[in-house]
Amino acid sequence: MGGLRATSFSSIFFWCLVFLFLVSSDLVYAYKERGTAESINLNHTYIVQTSSLPPSCVCRNSTTGHTNRKHLKVVHRHGPCSHLDQHKIQVPNLTQILIQDQLRVNWIHSRLAKSLGQDAFQASTTTLPTKWFTGSYVVTVGLGTPKEDLTLVFDTGSDLSWTQCEPCADGCYDQQEPKFNPSSSTSYSNVSCSSVQCSRDIKIDCASSTCVYGVSYSDGSKTRGFLAKERLTLTSSDELDGFLFGCGQHNDGIFGREAGLLGLGRGAESLVSQTAQKYGSFFSYCLPTLCGSTGFLSFGSGGGTSNSLKFTNLGQHADEPSFYYIDIVDISVGGQNLNLPSSLFSSQGSVIDSGTVFTSLPKTAYAALRSAFQQQMSNYLTKSPPAPFDTCYDLSGYNTVYIPKITFLFGNNVNVDIVPEGILVESATEYCLAFVGNSDENRGATFGSYQQQKYEVVYDAAGGRLGFGAGACD
Ligand SMILES: *[C@@H]1O[C@H](CO)[C@@H](O)[C@H](O)[C@H]1NC(C)=O
Ligand SMILES: *[C@@H]1O[C@H](CO)[C@@H](O)[C@H](O)[C@H]1NC(C)=O
Ligand SMILES: *[C@@H]1O[C@H](CO)[C@@H](O)[C@H](O)[C@H]1NC(C)=O
Ligand SMILES: *[C@@H]1O[C@H](CO)[C@@H](O)[C@H](O)[C@H]1NC(C)=O
Repeated sequence: MGGLRATSFSSIFFWCLVFLFLVSSDLVYAYKERGTAESINLNHTYIVQTSSLPPSCVCRNSTTGHTNRKHLKVVHRHGPCSHLDQHKIQVPNLTQILIQDQLRVNWIHSRLAKSLGQDAFQASTTTLPTKWFTGSYVVTVGLGTPKEDLTLVFDTGSDLSWTQCEPCADGCYDQQEPKFNPSSSTSYSNVSCSSVQCSRDIKIDCASSTCVYGVSYSDGSKTRGFLAKERLTLTSSDELDGFLFGCGQHNDGIFGREAGLLGLGRGAESLVSQTAQKYGSFFSYCLPTLCGSTGFLSFGSGGGTSNSLKFTNLGQHADEPSFYYIDIVDISVGGQNLNLPSSLFSSQGSVIDSGTVFTSLPKTAYAALRSAFQQQMSNYLTKSPPAPFDTCYDLSGYNTVYIPKITFLFGNNVNVDIVPEGILVESATEYCLAFVGNSDENRGATFGSYQQQKYEVVYDAAGGRLGFGAGACD
C-alpha cells in the first residue's frame, strides 16, 4: 500500500521536507557551506532537515481536528486519507495547477473589476474558469432520506452546491460513490420556476415548471440540472431540511472522482447563507498538508479547536458578495518587513480563497517578496527552473536548510507565519518559492490554500472577522 501511494505521489508535487524545530534557544550558530559560523535568529527562520527518503504518506489519526463530533473530516483529494481512487484520477502536475490557478485568479479579479465598474477583463457572472479545479480539499456529507454519502470539493469562492443526480439524463462523469438518486429519497423536492429561489443568476430554463439551473465553465465544461431541496446531513447531530442544491443531470470535465461541490461562498445560495439562522454565518476549517492526515470543517461558533485565534477584518462588496475580502497590510521575510504600500492590496480588493492553490500577489509585492527571499537564501544553489516557478533551489546537498519565515501582516495587527510546508514547493529535484505574481498590477492578492495549511481559518461573516489559529491540524 505504501509503495502504491509513493508511486502515485511521485508524479505530483509533495511536501517531503522533514521539519525539525530546535526550541532550546532562539539563537543558534550554524555552519553554512562557506565554513563560517553565522548566527541564525530562530524567531525568523525555520530549520529544516531534508530527507532523502520519500515521505511516508500514510493516513494517521490526527491528534487534532476531526476528533470533535461536530467536525466534518477534511482530506486532501490526493492525500493518504482520501478514499478517492487515485488511479482513476487525472492528477494535475505543477504546471497544470498553475494554469488552473491563473484561470481562477483571472475569474475572481474579472468579477471584482466588474463590480467596481471596470471592464478591464472579460467578465461573466456564471462563468467559472477551471476544469472543476475548485479546490484540493474534500468533505463527505449525507444527502437525502435515507442519506447517501457524497464526497464534495468545498469551495469558498462559489455559492451553489451541486451533485451529480440519477438518471444523469444528459451525461455524468465517473465518481467514487453511487450517484445521488432523488427517487430513492423521501425528502427530495424540485424547486418550481415560480419560486423566488429560482433566481436569475442560476436559472437557465424551466422543465415542466421545474427550475433548471446551469453553471458553465470557460473551458466548455458545465453542470446543469434541476434546482432542488433536500435534507443535508453534515454530522450525526447536524441535519438541515430544505437545503437548496443543484441536482446535476449534465456534468462533465472533472479531474477527480468527487460527487460535486459544496459552496461556501458568501452569496445567497451558499450553504453558509442558507444556514445563517442556525450557524450565524460562521464556519472554520483546517486544511492538512498533502502528506498530513485529516483536517476539519465545522459550522457555528464554538466548533473550532484553537484557543489562540487572532482576528482580522473580513470585508464585503455588495456587488460581488460571494468572496471573502481580506486586508493585507504588509509581508515580512525573515523578520524584515517589505514595507509595501497598502494600496497595492486594497486597490481592487484581496480575497482568501480555498479554491486557489498558490497565493498570487500584486506584481510589485511579488517582486519584493522574491528579492528578499533570494537575498536570504543566497547561500543555496539556485536552479534555473524548468518548473513553472521562477525562484528555485537545489537543496539536495544539504542535510539542514535554513528558510526565512514569511509572515503576512493583516489588518488589526494579525501576523500569520506561513508554515514551512507553505513556503516552498517541491518540483522534481528542486524546491521553489510557492507564490506567484499577478500579471496585472491593479489586481489584489488571492490568498490560496497552500499558504493556509495547518491553520484553523475562521470565517465569521456576520461579525465581519477572519480568524487564524496556528497548528490546528497536520
Ligand atoms: C525572539 O522573540 C522573543 C519573543 O518576542 C524575544 O524575547 C527574543 O528576544 C527574540 N530573540 C531574538 C534573537 O530576536
Ligand atoms: C483512528 O481513530 C478511530 C476512531 O477513534 C479508531 O477506530 C481507529 O482504530 C484509529 N486508527 C488508527 C490507525 O489509530
Ligand atoms: C504537465 O502535464 C502536461 C499535460 O499533460 C504536460 O504537457 C507537461 O509537460 C507536464 N509538465 C511537467 C512539468 O511535467
Ligand atoms: C423534478 O422535475 C423533473 C423535471 O420536471 C422531473 O422529471 C422529475 O420527475 C421531478 N422529480 C420529482 C421528485 O418531482
